[in-house]
Amino acid sequence: MHSLIIFASGAGSNAKAIIEHFKKDGKAKAALIVCNVADAGVLDIARAEEIPFLITDRVKLKETMIIEQMRDCRPSLIVLAGFLLKIPETIIEAFPGKIINIHPALLPGYGGKGMYGHHVHQAVIDAGEKESGITIHYVNEHFDEGNIILQARCTVEGNEPLQLAARIHQLEHFYFPRTIEFLLDQTVTA
Ligand code: GAR
Repeated sequence: MHSLIIFASGAGSNAKAIIEHFKKDGKAKAALIVCNVADAGVLDIARAEEIPFLITDRVKLKETMIIEQMRDCRPSLIVLAGFLLKIPETIIEAFPGKIINIHPALLPGYGGKGMYGHHVHQAVIDAGEKESGITIHYVNEHFDEGNIILQARCTVEGNEPLQLAARIHQLEHFYFPRTIEFLLDQTVTA
């Protein structure tokens, strides 16, 4: 069975969609959840699902201890599901080609530092875009610039960021677990 590490900072609806998908399918399990917000909803999901978690911050993320804890999980993939801190180069170098991120817009548009969650949706609406979507991509040392694995689109209707966020979440919950499964199918278990 493949092992996943999920990094998340928020409510964790993507983490939940991934966990539920692989509960049914049995190909993978979340071995660890890494979070930088002590009261984030994703930690309630970790507790309910009895998944080990650790709470980190910008400084701890750069320590070798976290890499050791991650290596102990022998992850096939490390999944950023709404994680808002930059992943340090030490982690990227320790897990080459194994870290993927989901971004709630069609990169290269509306990405980069400070572009997360509702900020992205507001910027898309303010620019008068007729279309938005999601991007699943590999993580490199620059925010939102790694090679793109998959994009999916939706129309932008009205000017309400929460409504756009809901449409984007629907796309994410469908495509993210399936993209992870596709990548796992091409990976030999450690
Ligand atoms: C998701 O929409 C994800 O694309 C976004 O945060 C949300 C997390 O929602 N990520 C970013 O904006 C990263 N730049 P969730 O906590 O309900 O999964």
